[in-house]
Amino acid sequence: MSILNLADQLKYERNHGIANNSLKGKKLGMIFQKSSTRTRVSFETGIYELGGYGLFLSSHDLQIGRGEPVEDTARVLSRYLDGIMIRTFAQKEVEDLAKYGSIPVINGLTDYAHPCQVLADLMTIREYKGSFKGLKMTYVGDGNNMANSLIAGAVKLNMEIAVACPKGYEPDAKIVEWAHNNGKLTITESVDEAIAGADVLYTDVWASMGMESEKAVREHDFKGYQINSVNIKLAKGDVMVMHCLPAHRGEEITADVFEAHANEIFDEAENRLHAQKAVMVKLMK
Ligand code: CP
Ligand code: NVA
Repeated sequence: MSILNLADQLKYERNHGIANNSLKGKKLGMIFQKSSTRTRVSFETGIYELGGYGLFLSSHDLQIGRGEPVEDTARVLSRYLDGIMIRTFAQKEVEDLAKYGSIPVINGLTDYAHPCQVLADLMTIREYKGSFKGLKMTYVGDGNNMANSLIAGAVKLNMEIAVACPKGYEPDAKIVEWAHNNGKLTITESVDEAIAGADVLYTDVWASMGMESEKAVREHDFKGYQINSVNIKLAKGDVMVMHCLPAHRGEEITADVFEAHANEIFDEAENRLHAQKAVMVKLMK
């Protein structure tokens, strides 16, 4: 909760023209092995606004892309930088960077998790709903990195969470087990059942980055795993709709529902900046 409070404070300061140089002179390396619009721009802008400097490090240019081991990259970058943000495929790569390096490492998305996104999501939910008390969040779609992280976030803040996904596309088994033991999680194949009574609806693409070859199969398997103007009526009247973006209109969400909830969705995108500034201040100051 203290990260979310700091994020709110940083947002307030930015909106009121109050400078915050908490990370003056600090350097953040940003390693990208996958594409990004929000993560890259919000981290780079965020470190700049805090008085620091961000280095965009594409894996196409780094020696890591030519096979230099993560353990060596970690030790080298630790000699130059004050923090690393990495977006990659395997979760282990992030953990190895942290293990072999001596500076904070931030997960900017792996196949397993997208924690920075979920911090921004939680911040946005609290902005709209006032608190997390008694809320039901429903996630419709692939049991992917977003689903894993949303389950973790919801359970930590005592929100009920329902996940509607096709058989075989469930979230990570360990996270599911942990959530069952520590919170209130329902996993169902029924989109309507999951949406019923929801305060927050969330969805994400059917095929994540790196799964491009499965696109056709997934389009078939995920048919109906969509938030639309019919099933949204099963949720509470004041339901929020959220999407981490990029969105595929006509697949996981219809264009009309997306546009009707564009305020929430783009506030959510903006909050990436504030939430990640909070993470950087906490880790790098
Ligand atoms: N939501 C998100 O992480 O967006 P990008 O892939 O554009 O960074
Ligand atoms: N699940 C998506 C999230 C993008 C922000 C992906 O990994 O591509």
